[in-house]
Amino acid sequence: MTTSANPQPLTAQKSRPLAGNPQIPGDKSISHRALIFGALSVGETTVEGLLEAGDVLNTASVLRELGATVDRGSDAIWRIRGVGVGGFAEPSNVLDHGNSGTGVRLMMGAVATAPITATFTGDASLRKRPMRRVLDPLERFGAEAVGRRGGLLPLTLKGATNPVPVTYELPVPSAQVKSAVLLAGLNAPGETTIIEPEATRDHTERMLRHFGAEVTIAAAGKAGRTITLKGYPMLTGRPVVVPPDPSSAAFPLVAAILVPGSKLTLSRVMLNPTRAGLITVLKRMGASIKVTNERIESGETVGDLEVTASALRGTTTEPEIAPSMIDEFPILAVAAAFAEGTTRMNGLAELRVKESDRLAAVAAGLGQIGITHRMGDDWLEVDGRGADGVPGGGRVTTHMDHRIAMSFLVAGLAARQGVTVDDTAFISTSFPTFIPMMEKLGAIFKRPNA
Ligand code: S3P
Repeated sequence: MTTSANPQPLTAQKSRPLAGNPQIPGDKSISHRALIFGALSVGETTVEGLLEAGDVLNTASVLRELGATVDRGSDAIWRIRGVGVGGFAEPSNVLDHGNSGTGVRLMMGAVATAPITATFTGDASLRKRPMRRVLDPLERFGAEAVGRRGGLLPLTLKGATNPVPVTYELPVPSAQVKSAVLLAGLNAPGETTIIEPEATRDHTERMLRHFGAEVTIAAAGKAGRTITLKGYPMLTGRPVVVPPDPSSAAFPLVAAILVPGSKLTLSRVMLNPTRAGLITVLKRMGASIKVTNERIESGETVGDLEVTASALRGTTTEPEIAPSMIDEFPILAVAAAFAEGTTRMNGLAELRVKESDRLAAVAAGLGQIGITHRMGDDWLEVDGRGADGVPGGGRVTTHMDHRIAMSFLVAGLAARQGVTVDDTAFISTSFPTFIPMMEKLGAIFKRPNA
């Protein structure tokens, strides 16, 4: 299956200049973590600006199954009453994480050292994604996992009854694996240590400290970190304010660069350096992005972005920058299609195991809109056609992947003949307001054959 039960195709048409100050929804990574840490704390956690999208709402439901109280107030503030570290109740039903790799991997970490047994599953896309990467370290704590061959969902995890602390070097640069290990380490004695050869997003470390855990972070090698967590902390409910998601902001940001005459302001976008690679690369390609008003809000750097339509030139991205923009390669590939010259992106192996095989899906999509490209195991080369040279006109297969759908809709806003995507249903997993928000800025979307 590569679409939802009721596929919702949509065509993006060459649009007039985009203008405005769109409201970007809350960060997905921080939203998952705010709910999970709230559920592992004693007392009340309040969350303002939570991303109310499919992936995060599934995490909220799973936490309720495990005994936490998770409610949304009429003031849009979410309130969580936690069960404390190690306090999860055994769920009486299967825990369904829908489309969300972050949700299921983090929750398997949190369950791995709790004295309960739980069965995890997800949708057709999530059931294809590798879980061995989290099960390997979680088994070292003493957890036992039984799943399908290759560690695929559905799988049952029996939490360790006498957990031991773990020192683990990440074999792949993954914040989800790092976070699963740290969450398991909360209910283990002594110190749990993670060595990451390349720094990945650090929201878990920041939030551990925010909720009262003791975490030390040291540089490791050229670009890595060693993170050590002291087990059995007393986590206490805290207020969390979720900043807008830079991975969602990336779509209107690139749309404004590509649609001639556009000018947008994006307020309070999170600029955490472990997430900001796309802005660095787009600026290098010649994009006009002005960052103003940089400040710290709730422990994260945020800033306002002023972006205007710009001519782009091709570039090369090195593997070192990939973790800080891992979710942004589909939209960067679209930007590269509208650049003068060739763009080469390196270090993309992890794209093979996202909501779809994103490297293959992006390459196929580029072909469908008339762009010459070459793909290797972990790299992609895109021959740009310049600001007004992308033919478009094709129908792009989205493979149950929200970011493929949004990226190629953005391409359609500036391509000569527009672009159709086969299914927009999965956009609601991360950005339910994407289509009306873009329309308000001036984007033209039509139901095909309507
Ligand atoms: C995430 C980590 C990344 C990213 C995902 C969110 C997180 O996945 O692609 O969208 O919140 O920890 P990996 O850990 O697989 O790189």
